[in-house]
Amino acid sequence: MSPSAAATAHPMVPPIVAPSILSADFSKLDHELALADPAREWVHCDVMDNHFVPNLTFGPIVVRAARKLTRAFLDVHLMITEPARMVPEFRAAGADGITIHLEACRDVTGALEAVRAAGARTGLALKPGTPLSAAEPYLATLDLLLVMTVEPGFGGQGFMAGMMPKVREAAAWRTRHGARYLIEVDGGIAPETARTARDAGAQVFVVGQAIYRQPDARAALEALRTAVSSR
Ligand code: DX5
Ligand code: ZN
Repeated sequence: MSPSAAATAHPMVPPIVAPSILSADFSKLDHELALADPAREWVHCDVMDNHFVPNLTFGPIVVRAARKLTRAFLDVHLMITEPARMVPEFRAAGADGITIHLEACRDVTGALEAVRAAGARTGLALKPGTPLSAAEPYLATLDLLLVMTVEPGFGGQGFMAGMMPKVREAAAWRTRHGARYLIEVDGGIAPETARTARDAGAQVFVVGQAIYRQPDARAALEALRTAVSSR
């Protein structure tokens, strides 16, 4: 199935859980990816270059493999310096959504344009220290705003509840300006913190260790689904 054909069939109606394969067992990636139901989940791919963040993970090769193993929406989170030049390759590898970091680009508008031109859903990520006001020039045309709830670079870190005002502010800005972006949170998400983030206005929930490092990953995913959808 071609990436563009796949993209139209994906869930865009929140709440959406996005298992992060950073915490998965790569020796059985097919099994780990099969956990995500393409009709309701996304698969989150953390790309790190050991420059923008102090960790090195994977590139288009792994996204291409994931594309062959799942029809789920591939939500590619680029934690790389000057991401624009790598966007076409990630899109060709099968990325459906590409999220760049505002702090990683000299030309944020140009980088977002590169994602749009490649035909992927356009996402912008903010590190904990970056205020929403820094993203304001770009919000009106985004498909996704990612509010990091940990310092990017590693899975298994503690959830930063101090980011909830930024989530609330982003939801209020969207209403005030009639924008359409989904609000995603990433880092330290588990059933309890997912509820906290949902109540602040989050709609997409990236989850690494709270799924893939649990004794029963399937049951853990079910608990997340329940946590984000029940009031
Ligand atoms: C961190 C990554 C996250 C991470 C989440 O920089 O962007 O996606 O994998 O993992 P947990 O859920 O374990 O915090
Ligand atoms: Zn991520």
